[in-house]
Amino acid sequence: MHGAGPAPLVWITTPDNYDPRVQERLKREGSGRVDMLRAAGFDVRVVHSCDIVPAWNGRPRLLHDGDDLLAKRAGFLVTSWTWDPGIARHLEAVVRTIRASDSVLLTDGTLDPDGLGTDKLAMYHHAASLGAPVLPTVSVPFGRYARRALDAVRSELPEGPYVVKPRSMAMGFGVLKADTPQHLAATVDLLAPSGLGCLVQPHLPNTGDLRVYVSEGKTVAALLRRPGDEAYLANVSQGGSGSVHEPPGDTAASSERLARSLEADYLCVDWLLAGDRPVFNEWMTVLAGYEDLKGAPRLRVEAALVDHIRHRLSAAT
Ligand SMILES: Nc1ncnc2c1ncn2[C@@H]1O[C@H](COP(=O)(O)OP(=O)(O)OP(=O)(O)O)[C@@H](O)[C@H]1O
Ligand SMILES: [Mg+2]
Repeated sequence: MHGAGPAPLVWITTPDNYDPRVQERLKREGSGRVDMLRAAGFDVRVVHSCDIVPAWNGRPRLLHDGDDLLAKRAGFLVTSWTWDPGIARHLEAVVRTIRASDSVLLTDGTLDPDGLGTDKLAMYHHAASLGAPVLPTVSVPFGRYARRALDAVRSELPEGPYVVKPRSMAMGFGVLKADTPQHLAATVDLLAPSGLGCLVQPHLPNTGDLRVYVSEGKTVAALLRRPGDEAYLANVSQGGSGSVHEPPGDTAASSERLARSLEADYLCVDWLLAGDRPVFNEWMTVLAGYEDLKGAPRLRVEAALVDHIRHRLSAAT
């Protein structure tokens, strides 16, 4: 690490993703994650992506209020999910500028982060190639060709209900259950003009979404999120509830295998619990929530996250 003093971390978020009232609430309540990282000795600064202008002038720069965020080597966390294609393009420029600098993009964290970082379709291809159970999935083409997905759904997927979800989002945003082919057709009609890119899968009756935390190749904790009554989304931000859980069968081993294949020192792998063989859902790196864990498992995940960040920051010096 460079010299003494806390290691600088810059967390880039995008307030334009949220209703301004939600933003006000988030500001009032603060962030437990930021507090945890500060308590662990990091000097955390939160910056909004809309205030950044990426540039190259002699070296990569992230201009921010007359300052350059890349002037001093730092660790960067970039929350890259967004429902807005314009924001997505801007975040790409931010991410690529950080990668070109001597700072560390902590949210990369997997082999081929552009391909395998946030795209659920890419994750399914990869997880299935390692033998994990994956739901049959159809990706919806663009614009006036979008309805062609309906024929593919008929030929490739079992009968509904279906789940339609954006390929790269988080917090259960836009994850919709379509009970009939007509619901599905209307959903596709509405989604296609958004340019979000979405997937259709069978709705799998499940008892929850299990997140397995893998650090340095070993499972350190697991969090079970269950949908509320009459609900189908397990995300806690969408009314689900979370609790510490033991991963069943070989789910821990499968998660560890995925982390190894992605060369990820810290990986959170989500599985839908159904029957005796959980089905792979997605993975996330350092930004995955763990705040609903309690007690020793939570402390283990926090310690793993802090170690991972320290390790990444010192590795490239
Ligand atoms: N095929 C499916 N069958 C049944 N339920 C599903 C299916 N896909 C998703 N869900 C439910 O919807 C929730 C959100 O879906 P998913 O995790 O794919 O999206 P997300 O927005 O990326 O959430 P996260 O914040 O966990 O990244 C899941 O936790 C699960 O409860
Ligand atoms: Mg999820």
